[in-house]
Amino acid sequence: MRARLEAGQQEIVAAARRVMLRCDELARVTASETGIERVYLSPEHARANRLAAEWMRELGMSTRQDAAGNLVGRLDAADPEAPALMIGSHLDTVLDAGRYDGMLGVLVALEVVRLLREDGRSPFRFAIEVVAFWDEEGTRFGKALLGSSAAAGTWDDRWWALQDAEGVSVRQAFLEFGLDPARIGEAARRPEELVGYLEAHIEQGPELHRRGESLAVVSSIASARRFQLVVEGEARHAGGTPYDMRRDALLGASEAALAVERLCRAEHHIIGTVGQLEAFPGAMNVVPGEARFSLDLRGELDGHRDEVWNALSLELDAIMGRRGLRWRADEVHNAAAVGCAPLLQDVVREGIATTLAPGADAPATLFSPAGHDGMSIGAITDIGMLFLRNPDGISHHPDEDVSTEDVAHGLRALAESVLHLAAERG
Ligand code: GLV
Ligand code: MN
Ligand code: MN
Repeated sequence: MRARLEAGQQEIVAAARRVMLRCDELARVTASETGIERVYLSPEHARANRLAAEWMRELGMSTRQDAAGNLVGRLDAADPEAPALMIGSHLDTVLDAGRYDGMLGVLVALEVVRLLREDGRSPFRFAIEVVAFWDEEGTRFGKALLGSSAAAGTWDDRWWALQDAEGVSVRQAFLEFGLDPARIGEAARRPEELVGYLEAHIEQGPELHRRGESLAVVSSIASARRFQLVVEGEARHAGGTPYDMRRDALLGASEAALAVERLCRAEHHIIGTVGQLEAFPGAMNVVPGEARFSLDLRGELDGHRDEVWNALSLELDAIMGRRGLRWRADEVHNAAAVGCAPLLQDVVREGIATTLAPGADAPATLFSPAGHDGMSIGAITDIGMLFLRNPDGISHHPDEDVSTEDVAHGLRALAESVLHLAAERG
């Protein structure tokens, strides 16, 4: 089999080209006329699943949409009851997204299946499943990783009440999409059904680009908390209200956003982002009486991240106290940091090594400040990840990019990683 990969460089380059073309094809499945927008439980979700399911069936895989809307393709081993190695990523996007974050991992997984299958089957003692998760980003409901949490059996019933910007709840969106909320438990996978989870993803920063390397092993994925914050002041006439009588909620929120930057910058590996900010009533001639903003807070270690949140809370008390404002925070997402399993880090490292020139340095090992589906799946099985170079390090933006050559390296490395894993498991 290894000899086949070595001899099959042409086949690998053709596979990488197909991945790029299919990323373009998926980019056309969008709710927006000006960019890529594909959110959970939308008509585009259904269309993308139909398209990806066709690609899976073309490889002889059986397909199903699970109770949370994730798409699962399976290539059985000789024993149809054998546990599965899951390989995948997500098909949902942020707003005005790039075309590779998530999609690349699903399409690379399909090409790995194409390279490794023999006689229409998995040649290993395990089946291979390609999984396209939904709502890794949390774009629609604020809470990220909904689909992969359902697959991990960690769905929280409080999430049914979360609402999108139009006031549609998760429960209602399930029903409109044709999914039955009462059956959510059926999406849960059991640890004994799985061998592990592997994911290829573009790096969402510039490290590999700076190092001049194509691929990296991922060591762990950052922990993340997300909050919706509300600041309450008093709406008053913009002309007639002297400064000493103002309780301007937007200024309180703005000072809070600056405090987020100041406190996080002072820490190593803690990153805070205010990505949404709105003022109410939202009139040019009214002092804002209320402001709402989001906070995305990440860190390599949960405890460190939580210490920064505690310090930030004290800082917000002080800021709002000085300005005569009140504030509150609703936590909408909380995911612990997850380490990639040592064995899967090793097999990914060996996989990458096969793409390097003789005598090259060992592949880089990077921590991921971006979130990934493996954060949920790590609760039920070992996870491993591979990063592909992202020229310029731009992501969550239409300019997100990856080269066909790096995709060819990535899929060769991932296929080799699967071979190494199969050898380890005997
Ligand atoms: C997803 O890409 C995230 O890190 O929020
Ligand atoms: Mn993303
Ligand atoms: Mn992603």
